[in-house]
Amino acid sequence: MKLLLVFGLVAVALADVTRFEGDKVLRLKPKLNEHVTFIKELANSIEVDMWSPESSEQVTTDIEVDIHIPAKYLDIVYTMLGQSDMEHQILIEDVQAAIEGQADSGGSPRAHSYTKYNTWSDIQNWMNSISSSNPNLISKQVIGNTYEGRPMTVLKLGKASSSAKPAIFMDCGIHAREWISPAFCQWFVKEALSTYGSDSQMTSLLNQMDVFVLPVFNIDGYAYTHTNNRMWRKTRSSRSGSSCVGADPNRNFDAGWCTLGASSNPCSDTFCGYSPESEIEVKNVADFIRRNKSVIKAYITMHSYSQLLLFPYSYKYGLAADHSELLKVAQGASAALQSLYGTRYTSGPGATTIYPAAGGSDDWAYDLGVKYSYTFELRDTGRYGFLLPESQIKPTCEETMLAFKYIAAYVQKNL
Ligand code: ARG
Ligand code: ZN
Repeated sequence: MKLLLVFGLVAVALADVTRFEGDKVLRLKPKLNEHVTFIKELANSIEVDMWSPESSEQVTTDIEVDIHIPAKYLDIVYTMLGQSDMEHQILIEDVQAAIEGQADSGGSPRAHSYTKYNTWSDIQNWMNSISSSNPNLISKQVIGNTYEGRPMTVLKLGKASSSAKPAIFMDCGIHAREWISPAFCQWFVKEALSTYGSDSQMTSLLNQMDVFVLPVFNIDGYAYTHTNNRMWRKTRSSRSGSSCVGADPNRNFDAGWCTLGASSNPCSDTFCGYSPESEIEVKNVADFIRRNKSVIKAYITMHSYSQLLLFPYSYKYGLAADHSELLKVAQGASAALQSLYGTRYTSGPGATTIYPAAGGSDDWAYDLGVKYSYTFELRDTGRYGFLLPESQIKPTCEETMLAFKYIAAYVQKNL
């Protein structure tokens, strides 16, 4: 036993774990075209990790640009910034310290918890136990395996019925490093089960509809953020011919694929993949939604960060046919969310609210015929970004529940 433990520790020490000591996240505020050029040149000359927007091509004037800069480049970046008059500030002083500061302090051994960031293996065990203890409200189905062979399990929540029920599909964790997102899916399942029978809206929702929940979409990437690189975003697929791993699953859907706001370079964080649905995780989800197209009335996908509630389109500037209704529902949901702790969200179509980016799941679902298609960008607005402390899981999930329930009630009323 002791020997095994020693081997385990040696194995972890030998694994290729990326550390971020002294790295900083800077917020740049480009006001002039030359500032935009400056940022693009910076991103092309050194390895930076774009936090927001996700690619330097999406940088324009008058947006805030959050960039994670490795420690070894800070001197040169500061020298360059000194020669420019662009406004900038430090969001995160030391990325490694922020990573270590994410977890609650407290000695209890880490097991599954709704107020912690759980590992994939804890989430898997949790799915098994929660579904076996609530057989009348939850059923589980595997919709396929990930690239590395992990089972993609969808939980179906709802009162069993002899006839097909209309449904909402929700996924979390398309992007690996956005840890608050899978935390929300787990919270949602707990809340649905614990308030069914007492909360009249939840009871009515689960009586009349089913909610399909995919707690972690990009499981391989999520596991990799726990073991090797906290900042990983993409899938973990590889192909001969490129040494770079993974594609951006939210650029890999068949919606204006790779035309805008996506990269055809396999090394980019917004690589669109080799063809639409080349990523097996994307294909598994798209197949599931196509198969259940006649019952799925809403598609909801959880990302972070920026506090936005987005809807189609992102692959083009043109407005969706249902634009005014989608906007009205998004504004209602944002108001409901804000009512709890005052957290402010901005709503609107992706292309104009953040930036155009093709190949996203929301646009794909909408064009397939799922009218109520929404992308949430959860907390925060950059103070911690992807490294949101665990102490914010509870308030974030509580407020997001109100937005989800607002949308669900609207969908239910308009079946
Ligand atoms: N931050 C998200 C992403 O880049 C936004 C997704 C909005 N929808 C879209 N189809 N681009 O993936
Ligand atoms: Zn994302």
